[in-house]
Amino acid sequence: MTTSDLQKITDNAIASLKSVSSTEEAEEWRVAWIGRNGKLTDILRSIGKIPKEERRSIGMLANQTKSLLEESLNSHLESIKVSEQDVSSTKTTLDVTLPGRNLPSGGLHPVTKIVRMISNIFKNMGFEITEGPEIELDKYNFEMLNIPQGHPARDMWNTLWIDYVNDDGNYPMLLRTHTSPMQARHMESTKPPIRVLVPGKCYRYEATDATHEWHFQQIEGLVVDKGITFANLKGTLYEFARLVFGEERKIRFRCDYFPFVEPGVDMSIDCFICNGQGCRICSDSGWIEIMGAGMVHPNVLEGVGYDSNIYSGFAFGMGPERIAMLKYGIDDIRHFYSNDLRFLKQFSQTYS
Ligand code: DAH
Repeated sequence: MTTSDLQKITDNAIASLKSVSSTEEAEEWRVAWIGRNGKLTDILRSIGKIPKEERRSIGMLANQTKSLLEESLNSHLESIKVSEQDVSSTKTTLDVTLPGRNLPSGGLHPVTKIVRMISNIFKNMGFEITEGPEIELDKYNFEMLNIPQGHPARDMWNTLWIDYVNDDGNYPMLLRTHTSPMQARHMESTKPPIRVLVPGKCYRYEATDATHEWHFQQIEGLVVDKGITFANLKGTLYEFARLVFGEERKIRFRCDYFPFVEPGVDMSIDCFICNGQGCRICSDSGWIEIMGAGMVHPNVLEGVGYDSNIYSGFAFGMGPERIAMLKYGIDDIRHFYSNDLRFLKQFSQTYS
């Protein structure tokens, strides 16, 4: 064994290391060259047979060679690992079979969806859909609806007045407390026959709780023509209730007071959760109130210049939040306006 033999072995080992391209191959290389029975190890073992005067220098060189091969192997292994990681990360970014990332998109608010659904039902019955101002005159919100100044019925609506006083010292403007003012506005601007539906926002000076909000929506309906009777009201609203809450629904009318209708009623459906047996949703009564309605008061018809001996009509008003709460089992009206996406997202697929 000479120093040039040792050099030859080193050159061969380094040359073969260059073609090693995986951790498995590197392990094979280590076993072959510097493992327990590797080529270099064999040489180190045979050093004892070398003549004494050369033994020391060849021994030193053989040890240096071993360290050199170990270091070469380690740094080669490092670079193999880095390129193996590279390959796997390139694979991920270039995997064209992965589905694309969805861009977040908005959806319609659950109340908007209910308003649209209800509007479609009435549209199919020949109603036109219109809207009115949210800042309203006292005249339309109250007076033309048979609720004059100082009338106790005004207490039924907790009102947000606009901070503007006219010459008489009155506050003539307010945030509308209901959509009913559009009855008078619409009649003023058109002639019978009238079949109109008015969805829109309303506001009240109200302490909020699970069933009350200070702003909410209403849907108003008005039908005026010659010969309109309570039977027309019943037929129309019955059809509506069955379309929203199911074919088998029963309905109930009870007397109620609204100054702009006579007679006035509240309309209930039999509870669709317990089928009228009594449960938490219907407060054990078997019935669920869904809207107020009635025959348009002659004073309201006369107020817009219609002859109440010739024309008659019916009107109704409902809260779409309440309809949505019943239909989807929502227990608190405040969910609708708290802007919590965990709530809102649950409705993104219902009625578009
Ligand atoms: N505007 C009434 C309210 O806010 C609801 C209402 C009741 C509307 C009876 C009507 C009606 O058109 O006939 O409480």
